[in-house]
Amino acid sequence: MCGIVGGVAERSITNILIEGLKRLEYRGYDSAGLALISQGQVLRERRVGKVANLEQAVLDSQVTGSLGIAHTRWATHGKPTENNAHPHISGNVAVVHNGIIENYQELKDELEALGYMFSSQTDTEVVAHLVNHALKTAPNLLVAVQQVVPQLKGAYALGIIHTDYPDELITVREGSPLVIGVGIGENFISSDQLALLPITNRFMYLEEGDIARLTRDSIEVFVNGQTVERPVKELDATVSNASKGEYKHYMLKEIYEQPEAIQQTISQALNGNALREDFLKDAELDFANIQQVQIIACGTSYHAGMIAKYWFEQLINLPCHVEIASEYRYRTPVIVNNTLYVCISQSGETADTLAALRDTQKRAAAKGLDITTMTICNVATSSMVRETNHSLLTLAGPEIGVASTKAFTTQLAALMLLVLKIGQVKNAIAATETAEIIADLWHTPKVILDTLQNDTAILRLSELFVEKNHCLFLGRGTQFPIALEGALKLKEISYIHAEGYAAGELKHGPLALVDNDMPVVILAPQDDMLDKLKSNMEEVQARGGELFVFADEHSGIPADKERQHVVYVPQVSSLLAPIVYSIPVQLLSYHVAVLRGTDVDQPRNLAKSVTVE
Ligand code: AGP
Repeated sequence: MCGIVGGVAERSITNILIEGLKRLEYRGYDSAGLALISQGQVLRERRVGKVANLEQAVLDSQVTGSLGIAHTRWATHGKPTENNAHPHISGNVAVVHNGIIENYQELKDELEALGYMFSSQTDTEVVAHLVNHALKTAPNLLVAVQQVVPQLKGAYALGIIHTDYPDELITVREGSPLVIGVGIGENFISSDQLALLPITNRFMYLEEGDIARLTRDSIEVFVNGQTVERPVKELDATVSNASKGEYKHYMLKEIYEQPEAIQQTISQALNGNALREDFLKDAELDFANIQQVQIIACGTSYHAGMIAKYWFEQLINLPCHVEIASEYRYRTPVIVNNTLYVCISQSGETADTLAALRDTQKRAAAKGLDITTMTICNVATSSMVRETNHSLLTLAGPEIGVASTKAFTTQLAALMLLVLKIGQVKNAIAATETAEIIADLWHTPKVILDTLQNDTAILRLSELFVEKNHCLFLGRGTQFPIALEGALKLKEISYIHAEGYAAGELKHGPLALVDNDMPVVILAPQDDMLDKLKSNMEEVQARGGELFVFADEHSGIPADKERQHVVYVPQVSSLLAPIVYSIPVQLLSYHVAVLRGTDVDQPRNLAKSVTVE
């Protein structure tokens, strides 16, 4: 979604802003712009399309300045046009915004009645006019912003500058992510610290409702007009682990990083074939009391939750419910005492998941219910991690490709660790079984490495998909969510319509779709459901469907059958098979997308971090 970069320095920050925007490109956007204050003027450039277009415009116009704000816009209110691109200006004020101002129409009507003219269809422009208007009476820019913020409803991160304050950048965080990058004699803001990694590794994380004033040498944070302290944290993330390296796309790099990412994630929790004593130690009392688990997540993270449900119920006999956050937050789910609420999120900032969490916490508190909240997340500093009682990090490193890959498989590894931990605390799993699963977990990175050896074979299969318009993915048990995930991956980056189904559902509808032109992807690990799955394959073939099978090497599924293409996957324990079978569906989607010439890392209309509804 929209990305913000801003800064105040002694040197010109034009290139820092452009480079920062490039590092936010992964978030998804359709236009970009920047504004700099120079010699009492606001200099602005905006372009539709890629940051490269803005970069060229900036080169042509030679705009430069040491105080500025920049933005990548993902259209919500108004089409992706130059006029709608940020920054928005009113008088001498320039504003960039990430989020949605829900009451913008009401504010716009009031401002128009006061004589303010609107040049865009965005919700953001009201903020620029409101600050401009407040400055007619407010003693300074900070106070003007402090007066405007209570009038805004919705979610917003803002960067605001004014020609009369050439050494001041005002920023606000309310419901959308924003971080301050602390430099030496210069300070910056951004929606994601990744954008600022080339210039600093020291960050200050704002809390919801914070308003901050940055100058070259100072950072003051205010809550309700009073200054508050926010600690500065040093990050060990480096620039290199957020770059593409030798790979053609971030997505491919991230697919190949999975063995290491999983190794990292499990290493934090394991000691030999046992859980480390200190792993989730401070959650033990809460875990002992829980009677059920409710998982809330979106997209790929939701699929990880679906798999965890099988594990919670099969391995430790703990009831587990899983729901899409955008649905959960808008119904009135019964909040049950002694429930563990688990948010799963790569970013930890997904608006629907965050809203569902906050709503649950509020309703539980109002009823005096005892619940525990937890986040499984890839970003240690995210809102969800900060707002839940406990957290378990997926140590996947930055995931830049919009299509989630290593975040998903590390979520699965983390979820299995959580199941084992809760099982141990509740005495619901035998130590020998835990040790066996842990041994399998340690072995998983190697199985993934071996599975990656199939890359060329999968590339060959993908050539048969290029001309297709539709595709079905089928799996049973924990492979059903992988079928959903495979379909999501294929549609999001190759734009081929794809659906995932539990193979047993075939006869109840989707079989009607199967004909000569319908590729059907089958996920066939060696498990209890294999024979039933083989019957489903027969059903497809009998109707002329073409099968693309990712099968266990010992499954007995023949490779030499007509209209049946098989790639053999190395043997893996059936419990952990969903982790390994994610790899072929990721590679298939990736290669199909590359062959179809789509924008693999930044597919159209999508954003990496969905910070608005
Ligand atoms: C996955 O490929 C998607 N890009 C998307 O479904 C994603 O998983 C979803 O938006 C949730 O994001 P989160 O994990 O950051 O909460």
